[in-house]
Amino acid sequence: MSARHGALALVAAVFGLAAGASGQSPDLATGERVFRDNCAVCHGAAGDGQGMAAHHFKTPPRDLAKGRFKFRSTASGQVPTDADLARTIVQGIPSTGMVPQGRSCWRIWSSPTKSWMTAFSAFTPRQGQEEACVKGECAECHGKEARGDGPSAKDLSVKPSDLTRRPLKSGATARDIMRTLLTGLDGTPMPSYYQVLEDDELWDLAYWLAARGGSPETTDDERAGWHVVQMHQRRGR
Ligand code: HEC
Ligand code: HEC
Repeated sequence: MSARHGALALVAAVFGLAAGASGQSPDLATGERVFRDNCAVCHGAAGDGQGMAAHHFKTPPRDLAKGRFKFRSTASGQVPTDADLARTIVQGIPSTGMVPQGRSCWRIWSSPTKSWMTAFSAFTPRQGQEEACVKGECAECHGKEARGDGPSAKDLSVKPSDLTRRPLKSGATARDIMRTLLTGLDGTPMPSYYQVLEDDELWDLAYWLAARGGSPETTDDERAGWHVVQMHQRRGR
């Protein structure tokens, strides 16, 4: 499968054009049109991340043809569920140029599928302590105060997040952070801690970090994202 068709198949799946209940094959033509009209300005017509507005962002638009996703409820190395993709597209990725993609995308959003979220409800969250963070060596990347300035930070291609700032890309509730810790963020140095730390320790960490956040700030990338989308829509009319 070529990169282009890989990206389009993904988009078709995202927009619920894939098999689904009816068992029909994906409608790539419709997927391509939706992608061209809404996404290509940043992600490029082939989904390779080389859209004409791509240079505006510190965190670049993703090369969707690579098939690696940060924000999933699935295990590291796996593809996201429809619900994961829908969350990314409908709610956007806070603090990045990936701003929420509007109602038309919502309208054609495919039905949510089952995810690990159901497994989460089996855990009993406890109020957090800091110790698990030491054990997980989070400080190596995120720094002792979780400000994204650990000793390894300077050598990493994707900078570790300042975990005291808000918003977080994948959500900042204890549950959101727990998901990030369980899945890892594929394509970045952020590892999965599934079966590396105990569930209790992970919940402790998640609660500790959730309590650390300041008030939400708007980043330059987010501002640029809104600007690109508005300019693009004006031109489209
Ligand atoms: C204004 C620019 C912009 C537009 C328009 C845009 N995106 Fe994005 N998108 C981004 C950026 C920037 C990222 C990378 C954020 C990061 O890596 O933290 C991204 C990331 C993604 C991801 C990766 C999520 C993950 O889990 O790794 C997906 C999927 C995605 N976009 C789909 C879409 C789709 C589908 C559309 C159209 C409906 C779209 N985007 C429109 C800028 C944009
Ligand atoms: C090898 C380096 C490394 C280690 C070790 C590491 N992280 Fe990360 N982490 C990263 C990077 C890099 C990112 C940013 C990914 C991005 O923005 O695309 C990240 C992102 C995150 C996020 C998501 C922030 C968001 O915006 O949604 C959380 C939460 C997090 N890390 C918590 C932890 C915790 C807790 C530990 C220890 C148990 C840990 N990390 C260990 C490198 C690391």
